[in-house]
Amino acid sequence: MTDLLPEYDELKRIADGQLDSAYIPYSHFPVGAALLTSDGQIFAGCNIENVAFGSTMCAERTAIFSAVSAGHRQFKALVVSGRTDGAIAPCGACRQVMVEWFDKTMPIFLTNTEGKVVKTDLEHLLPSSFDDLK
Ligand code: THU
Repeated sequence: MTDLLPEYDELKRIADGQLDSAYIPYSHFPVGAALLTSDGQIFAGCNIENVAFGSTMCAERTAIFSAVSAGHRQFKALVVSGRTDGAIAPCGACRQVMVEWFDKTMPIFLTNTEGKVVKTDLEHLLPSSFDDLK
């Protein structure tokens, strides 16, 4: 599976590395993400919590917004990692944000630090998503 994406190992290493950057004083639940742009750059993200819990930012959106704020609009793959029992699952808000820029079939690798890897895409993570204004 991962041989379909030459950059997978590097993305996974960066997503795992972000687990140590996660700012998680409240949940103690680290999440890391690494996003590959269409021109081969990688943007990293971790979750960043806030004492006002609703102001917390997820790892996936940290990576996506970081890339978008650097001018990127086209993406090739996303790897998300957690210290979870199974592959980590992105929250609903992150799935909707992904819809804004990711093709429906862009590979999204949901992983954990124990070797679990699930390759999926937005067609499966958020079917029938709202994108009428795009
Ligand atoms: N979290 C993420 O970073 N990504 C997700 O898709 C799921 C949830 C974070 C937010 C919060 O810091 C912690 O995990 C617990 O919800």
